[in-house]
Amino acid sequence: VQKCPSGKFVTVKFAHATYTFHSQWLHDAQMDDGPYKTADNAYSRKTTMAEVSDASTSGEGITSTMNISWTDGRESQFPCLWLWVYASLVGKCEKKETTMATTEECDPPEAEPAVSMAVKPIEQIEEISYTDLFPTMSESTRLHVYEVLVHPSFAGILKITNLPAPDVHSERHGENTLVVSLLTHIFGGVFDHPRRTTGQSYNISSHHASDVAKGLLVPNYNTAHFLLPHVDQSFYQHHTRIVGLYVLEGESVNSFVSAPAVLEALRKESPELVTPLYTCPMALGRAGKMYTPTIYQGTTATAVTTTGNNNNVVCHESPLTHTATSTTAPTTTFRWHPHYVGSLLCDFDAFPAALAAHRAFQAISDRPAFQTKLPLRPGDMYLFDNHRVLHGRDCVVREPRTCVGQSVTEQVVLDGWRDLLVGRLLRAGAGGVMVMPERWLVHVPLMQLYEMDRIVMGGCRPCWL
Ligand SMILES: [Fe+2]
Repeated sequence: VQKCPSGKFVTVKFAHATYTFHSQWLHDAQMDDGPYKTADNAYSRKTTMAEVSDASTSGEGITSTMNISWTDGRESQFPCLWLWVYASLVGKCEKKETTMATTEECDPPEAEPAVSMAVKPIEQIEEISYTDLFPTMSESTRLHVYEVLVHPSFAGILKITNLPAPDVHSERHGENTLVVSLLTHIFGGVFDHPRRTTGQSYNISSHHASDVAKGLLVPNYNTAHFLLPHVDQSFYQHHTRIVGLYVLEGESVNSFVSAPAVLEALRKESPELVTPLYTCPMALGRAGKMYTPTIYQGTTATAVTTTGNNNNVVCHESPLTHTATSTTAPTTTFRWHPHYVGSLLCDFDAFPAALAAHRAFQAISDRPAFQTKLPLRPGDMYLFDNHRVLHGRDCVVREPRTCVGQSVTEQVVLDGWRDLLVGRLLRAGAGGVMVMPERWLVHVPLMQLYEMDRIVMGGCRPCWL
């Protein structure tokens, strides 16, 4: 570690690369006084730039620290592991070490990045046994569920096998259902619908009287309809993140589509049609007449949005999560429900391109190569990331057919993942010794927490080691 003569920058040489940090950034980010900033110490009220008077390191391995003395007399000890995962986000890359122990400048590579699994059509759906989840699941199993469903490098869909026999009466009435109990068990809770009883599932059924009535009111629930691949709750202000579907009886043919894969194909085939998907809002809405009183739901949203909170954005320079370095899709969230779109809302001049973009997205997602078609049979349960895996229903082939569904909000899902990762890092060092105090973990973006966990647990070695 080396400070520059003015004290306004600090340069750190890691094993994989050398990065320069703004001293002010380090000063703002230090957690020695705790994760909460008092009014006097708020970064936004400072009028001067912090300067470093001395910089050094101490210790070895994952508990080593970078020690900074500030010109105002304060001292800070930055965990090196913490600094490492932040470096590619906020630092200026000076030099990268290659696997051949030679060096290269940090210019982006010319070659196309390897296509990650996240932007490929769904090829294989990972399976996990209910008996590995219920009644207890190991920490590593829980982590893997989050990885498969939420991490942008994974496909975002999981099949649960070996489910117990259902209580048919309860399932038909959406009470104490297997899907609710499993989602609650894994994530801590399910979506609380304003008109449904807490913890109740929604059923899509060909014969159960109240569900048939729903189908007459809302096409999605009419099992005679061909249902285009879509994102559930596209017309909500915040659509839920994880959807669980359980087949109680009957059989249908359903399709799953990786929306990032469709977007990636569009980017290659017609790059000029990508931007309208990010910029042209749609009017989405539904009159939910199956509820009493009717619930009117509507929003305006673009088909693709970059995640606003950076939770899934921050893999770009990571030496560890290199499978997630695609420049496009893993950072995106999708809303796609052609049945519930009223119209596009772009201005007059932009309309032709926006319509062409939406039609091109639909056309690619309709291709057989992009659709994973599955028979859904009694006892099948699928969990999937509703922000990027589209699901549709081609047809019902055996009746009576009942599908039982529920979902989990993004807040609950991401809080649960963070909670799991923080807990692991707090007791992850050799012999269960804390790697760094909790206060240093409070603000770390989720992907960086995940990266730290991978480094500490040794589950994935950086390619340069
Ligand atoms: Fe759906």
